[in-house]
Amino acid sequence: MAINDSGHVADGEQVPFSQAGSHGIDAGGFAQQPTMPVQAAANQGSLAGQDLATIPQKDVARSEEADSILTSTPIVDVRNLAKTYVIGRTRIHALQGISLRVYQGEFVAVMGPSGSGKSTFMNLVGCLDRPTQGEYWLAGKLVSRLSNDELANIRNRQVGFVFQGFNLLSRSNALSNVMLPMVYAGISREERERRGRSVLRLVGLGDRMNHKPSELSGGQQQRVAIARALVNGPSLLLADEPTGNLDSRTSLEIMAVLQALNEQGLTILMVTHEADIAKFAKRQVAFRDGLIMHDEQVLSPALAKEEWTKLVNKAAAEHKVKITEEAR
Ligand SMILES: Nc1ncnc2c1ncn2[C@@H]1O[C@H](COP(=O)(O)OP(=O)(O)OP(=O)(O)O)[C@@H](O)[C@H]1O
Ligand SMILES: [Mg+2]
Repeated sequence: MAINDSGHVADGEQVPFSQAGSHGIDAGGFAQQPTMPVQAAANQGSLAGQDLATIPQKDVARSEEADSILTSTPIVDVRNLAKTYVIGRTRIHALQGISLRVYQGEFVAVMGPSGSGKSTFMNLVGCLDRPTQGEYWLAGKLVSRLSNDELANIRNRQVGFVFQGFNLLSRSNALSNVMLPMVYAGISREERERRGRSVLRLVGLGDRMNHKPSELSGGQQQRVAIARALVNGPSLLLADEPTGNLDSRTSLEIMAVLQALNEQGLTILMVTHEADIAKFAKRQVAFRDGLIMHDEQVLSPALAKEEWTKLVNKAAAEHKVKITEEAR
């Protein structure tokens, strides 16, 4: 990794955001992050470059009144949610009555030991499964009693998923992977391609569109997965251990991408085992035995982009010392 005199990563290197240029979330650097929500930006056709504006967050411009309803209605409102799995004669009480509200623009880290119900909770929130008991309101709509087809429809439109193992199609390139969710939404090929390119640029992969997953680093694969999750313009991004398979530097890259998207108004729920990752969220919720044990706001979340820069600069300084020593 080359660092130039001013301490920045040199152009042309494989870096998280610099390739995004004026089209990506890094447009102008993180210091100048746009503060306008993603949805509002999509409506107004402004923000950091045209690409973000083309992401189909909403079809029609909203009135101020509609905006205030949107911000006062929780995106996620679960009430006394329970999930019991039945295997033969055994009943597993994975969730035992969870109540939680998440509003637009929040970034929530879901924590807790293995088996505490985190993934079960995420599956319910992502409309992949139905609760045994309790209610789930998604963006003001009661979804806990919808049919499978209705659930799938809501899921496609409202929720984006990112998983620990990326879950990309290995034979398809980055662009085809990202375009896939739009096939089910019945969007023309031309439009799919345009939006696919747009979200890939948004996550800083404008120059990797034709690469297959095996031709990408772990961090880049996860960014493709994030782009795929964003392509239908969801209100909610769910990430189940998104950095679980990544080294610490790449984890910071991914957290910086998520923080930038959250700054632009995207609501994020992220499962993580690691306090070092949860510290980037604005709120931390801890599960134990299918119940919520703690729920706290983080007053000033750490900045992943800053930590990433420090780490890269430190590695470069160490590398320089090594080269100098070898030259002696
Ligand atoms: N499909 C299923 N059928 C039966 N039991 C299940 C199923 N999914 C999860 N469980 C059980 O429900 C409980 C909660 O599981 P869950 O996967 O939600 O935990 P988790 O907090 O995500 O754990 P981890 O940190 O290991 O991913 C566990 O006891 C698990 O064995
Ligand atoms: Mg899990």
